[in-house]
Amino acid sequence: MPERFRAPTGTSDVLPPESRRWGALVARFATLVERSGYGLVSTPLFEDVGVFTRVGEGTDVVRKEMYDFEDKGGRRLALRPEGTAPVVRAWVEHRAPLPWKTWYVAPAFRYERPQAGRYRQHLQLGIEVLGTPDADVDVEVISLLWDLYTGLGLQRALLLINSLGDPVCRPAYLDSLLAYLEERRESLCDEHRTRWAENPLRVLDCKREKCREATRNAPRMVDALCGPCAEHFERVQDGLGALGIPFAIETRLVRGLDYYTRTTFEVQASALESAQNGIGGGGRYDGLVELLGGPPTPGIGFGTGVERVLLACDAEGVFPVPASPVQVFVVDSTGGEEARDLTAELRRAGVACDRAYDGRSMKAQFRAADRSGARLAVVVGTEERASGKVKVQALDADRTELVDRAEVVAHVRRVLGG
Ligand code: HAM
Repeated sequence: MPERFRAPTGTSDVLPPESRRWGALVARFATLVERSGYGLVSTPLFEDVGVFTRVGEGTDVVRKEMYDFEDKGGRRLALRPEGTAPVVRAWVEHRAPLPWKTWYVAPAFRYERPQAGRYRQHLQLGIEVLGTPDADVDVEVISLLWDLYTGLGLQRALLLINSLGDPVCRPAYLDSLLAYLEERRESLCDEHRTRWAENPLRVLDCKREKCREATRNAPRMVDALCGPCAEHFERVQDGLGALGIPFAIETRLVRGLDYYTRTTFEVQASALESAQNGIGGGGRYDGLVELLGGPPTPGIGFGTGVERVLLACDAEGVFPVPASPVQVFVVDSTGGEEARDLTAELRRAGVACDRAYDGRSMKAQFRAADRSGARLAVVVGTEERASGKVKVQALDADRTELVDRAEVVAHVRRVLGG
């Protein structure tokens, strides 16, 4: 027996009809952001590993979880663990006019310990805006994420925002945080007792009780913002308020990537387990373009994982699998030519239709018709064929009409349209 394979650990196949929901979510997202002036950017699935190591050296995503490898030409490459750095790399390479408003739908890869809502491959939807420091863009980006979720019907979504300051105010804040942590080093969790100095902000974000307790009264970045950062953060809050978007300030919100400056945000689904309840998030990264070799250029964006969003929808019982688009099913007991030709005619006339194959029995064809979700069956039997007619049968009601074969496309369109 040949070996049977399974999808690799932490990955999964998405099959119909569930895949229709994925398609619908991506289509909704595309419509939402395209209508707001964002254009699709498609970058390679893999990049020079430096694109990611340059921007995320201090993060688990880059240090521990990256799928990096050498190709046959000896280049060090990595499967993208996230979508922001590739978009920034693409802008530095092509220099499109600013502001550059982009969106993407892209699989991302992280070698994580798989569990519900945490996979080694996930599908990320995101937007990135390069080239403007305007706080109103922060509001626009956050509101698009919020509107996506509310549009799906999610009601138990919680928006958390924070400001991480900028190179003017953050260094002094980090000094005060380091001094605070130094004094409490023995009370931190096992991981952070030894690894706190390289990225003290991450200790604030640690979910372990020891760290949470030890940092309860830690200095807060929001209290240490310089004038321009404080003003920016105020303007973002005013904007969210004006748009009727509820939010809470979470001073511990640091997020798992290192490139953030000023506004950071995350949406949590309270219907999900807390370890994987972050369904989307993002923030400003005003230094990232420079880090990847471009001129000083501010940026902001978000990413949201399709799998987690759909888990949140399941938990709230919203955004079900959309109905099948098939409207008509052609049933043919005369040998299949009529099914072949009628299906093509109907499809060319814009009617969504399907058929069965292999000369199956009428009963089997009607079963397939029911499964297809079609409203109408167009039935061709020997008798109908001899008299130049076809039968149009409503599948959800007891109604049948005999129609001229030459008229059937127009008839079906009338019935479906009405
Ligand atoms: P992130 O928070 O690492 O941010 O990921 C964004 C979203 O991707 C998460 O909120 C979650 O929905 C989903 N996600 C992340 N990792 C996994 C996983 N292992 N399994 C399933 N879903 C996952 C970023 O990636 C940033 N690039 C977001 C951003 C865009 N910031 C600025 N612009």
